[in-house]
Amino acid sequence: MNLLETARAARDAAYAPYSNFKVGAAILADTGDIFKGCNVENVAYPEGTCAEAGAIAAMIQGGGSRIMEITVIADSPAPVPPCGGCRQKIAEFADADVVVTMATTSGQTLRMTVAQLLPGAFTSSHMEER
Ligand code: THU
Repeated sequence: MNLLETARAARDAAYAPYSNFKVGAAILADTGDIFKGCNVENVAYPEGTCAEAGAIAAMIQGGGSRIMEITVIADSPAPVPPCGGCRQKIAEFADADVVVTMATTSGQTLRMTVAQLLPGAFTSSHMEER
């Protein structure tokens, strides 16, 4: 399965009884492996987790270190963009030129780089002592 197919399959497993908005994500890691995740909601709403966070957790658990490419899919009228928090989470493990593909279940896709999605990102360089 390619990244888009994997993200689509991951979405099927999403637990989203509160928003009814299922999201799937798939990461091609530096190891060559593909890792997937889905959103997992909670009755205490802020405790829910996004699909991207699940895929990143799977990547780290599975021995991957870097995101080479990531795809996110949802049943939305336009390609679903990662939320602000997920942009920061993705930036932790991806170079600025890594492509994020946003997809809809009906077949639309939009490709943007990490730098385009999170310009002016906070990085460890901002914590270096002068
Ligand atoms: N969601 C994701 O999983 N990823 C995104 O990129 C956008 C939003 C989830 C969080 C929540 O479970 C639902 O979509 C509605 O916000």
